[in-house]
Amino acid sequence: MAKVHVMDHPLIAHKISYIRSEEVGTKEFREMIGEIAQLMCYEATRDLKLEDVQIKTPICEMTGKSLAGKKLAIVPILRAGLGMVDGFLTLIPAAKVGHIGLYRDPETLEPVEYYCKLPADCEEREVFVVDPMLATGGSSVAAIQMLKDKGVKHIRFVCIIAAPEGVERMKKEHPDVDLYIGSLDEKLNDHGYIVPGLGDAGDRIFGTK
Ligand code: PRP
Ligand code: URA
Repeated sequence: MAKVHVMDHPLIAHKISYIRSEEVGTKEFREMIGEIAQLMCYEATRDLKLEDVQIKTPICEMTGKSLAGKKLAIVPILRAGLGMVDGFLTLIPAAKVGHIGLYRDPETLEPVEYYCKLPADCEEREVFVVDPMLATGGSSVAAIQMLKDKGVKHIRFVCIIAAPEGVERMKKEHPDVDLYIGSLDEKLNDHGYIVPGLGDAGDRIFGTK
């Protein structure tokens, strides 16, 4: 069963509240999405496996800890997921980065695939799928299915704002994928936007309309 981790950190709560305001411009919005992603990466990597390593410090020998287990990969859902990549790479710089291009058809709200390029060995990696918004769940469910079709078995999904409808759909369709959520909002409106949300994340990150 999927574990749903809703973040409980004052810095994450503060920064998410800040960028919800329609008065925050593109530069600041993009920078803060990166900062929130970095903080969420810290939380989403909390249970990575460690192994003992022997170290000789300038003072003495000791047993330290080093990351063990699977190598990591980050897969943003284009476009808005791109805004979270640098924050993740700051903390896990050895991770490989794949890209999945999906946009939501404004009429049907169904995801439309236009790009997929993944690390050659992605099926052996622990994959963090990142997208600021989980609304109906159509995009994230489809992106994760694309990864599973390529043989990826270990997937986590990290989003900044989620609607309850999207969380339920993810839990139903991908019960093996843990969810890391910055803020769980109230609902979707009639156009599939998250309420209260922050508007269109891709447009706000890239300054488009
Ligand atoms: C947004 C967002 C998610 C998707 C969420 O992308 O970044 O990918 O919508 O909605 P869903 O859960 O209902 O699928 P959008 O389609 O606007 O594309 P963009 O990132 O290129 O702006
Ligand atoms: N995509 C967004 O960017 N924002 C929403 O509220 C819903 C989907």
